[in-house]
Amino acid sequence: MKTQVCIIGGGPSGLLLSQLLHLKGIDTILLEKHSREYVLGRIRAGVLEHGFTELMREAECGDRMDAEGELHDGFEIVDNGIQHRVDLHKYTGASVMVYGQTEVTRDLYEARDRMQGKVIHNVEDVALHNLKAATPPYVTYRDSSGAQRIDCDFVIGADGFHGPSRKAIPRDVLREYEKVYPFGWLGVLSRTKPVNPELIYARNDRGFALCSMRSQVLSRYYIQVPLSDKAEDWSDAAFWAELKARLPQDVAARLETGPSIEKSIAPLRSFVAEPMRYGNLFLAGDAAHIVPPTGARGLNSAGSDIHYLYHGLIDHYLNGDDTGLNEYSAKALARVWKAQRFSWWMTSLLHSFPDTSEYDRHLQSTEMEYLFSSDAAQASLAENYVGLPF
Ligand code: APR
Ligand code: PHB
Repeated sequence: MKTQVCIIGGGPSGLLLSQLLHLKGIDTILLEKHSREYVLGRIRAGVLEHGFTELMREAECGDRMDAEGELHDGFEIVDNGIQHRVDLHKYTGASVMVYGQTEVTRDLYEARDRMQGKVIHNVEDVALHNLKAATPPYVTYRDSSGAQRIDCDFVIGADGFHGPSRKAIPRDVLREYEKVYPFGWLGVLSRTKPVNPELIYARNDRGFALCSMRSQVLSRYYIQVPLSDKAEDWSDAAFWAELKARLPQDVAARLETGPSIEKSIAPLRSFVAEPMRYGNLFLAGDAAHIVPPTGARGLNSAGSDIHYLYHGLIDHYLNGDDTGLNEYSAKALARVWKAQRFSWWMTSLLHSFPDTSEYDRHLQSTEMEYLFSSDAAQASLAENYVGLPF
């Protein structure tokens, strides 16, 4: 087979790029290791920056998001029971869209179907070849009818943290930066009315907690837990009791509880790989960077990669101009590191770190005090949360 752009990975990064390029007449073939049902079965976050929602609309995938998503002009930070509202609209004139990543991915798959996009599922042994050679790159893989080969101009590694693309970059070229946090998030999805019209991020001596939602009948809650915990060790009752203990009494009193329809623990870690380009291979999304979910930057950072890559590729194909592709790695990483900084800052502000010194504990409370005593500090928080410009 032959195509212009071969995309490895059928998550939101790969799908969004293939849809945007298709609308500009650029041919792609997308390879996904799992079935569509498996990909859509993964529960992920759900706060979209304005820039990401604009990309979805440009990809002609914004209708359901705009119909069912919720625009939020602010969110709450609770500091040991004291509630503070972060007024995003006051400081930025913008808002965020609360709409699940699973729904984003579903809308993108349906758009690929509508346009008969080439998406191949259940592929194995994906390997990348000739990434930096005189002859064009190609990708090999196996599917139910045997060994296959795709010849292309460019390969996009949108295959997440565990995919083959990043590993195809020679060790002496690739630099990896990582920070692992000593705790995880136990998340529960429940068919209950959200406890608050806006998200609540709670800092508490017992540990962090987050009240989020997918809709007015589907809520998503998280509590900070030690990495040694297992989701199966937490009964629903124990989860609800601990969540209530970390929320202000009036919020806890109105919390509607119910059976969990999904319960899992996610470790918290920050990771960046550089460069995000190696010859004719371009990395995007989780294949190149991971953030802890505290700042809700994961999907949005992937979206900014796709913004730069999409414009670089259309300039290449439609205008014969390679500036965008040549600047891709530097531009994408500049914004990625800002999302890394913001996610680290939110995580440091809101979680209880084991073995933290008294001095550091004072620093953390002072950071919170400064935040809610300074318009400048709140404006900085707001501009990072709604999304820095591309
Ligand atoms: N061959 C083909 N596909 C693969 C392979 C492989 N060898 N390895 C992994 N994949 C697929 C995965 O199955 C997954 O569907 O690549 C896809 C990568 O998708 P994501 O992990 O969702 O990454 P990305 O599309 O970059 O989206 C980033 O996902 O994890 C969240 O917080 C993160 O919100 C961010 C978003
Ligand atoms: C979520 O809704 O799952 C969510 C929201 C905000 C975050 C993280 C997760 O910061």
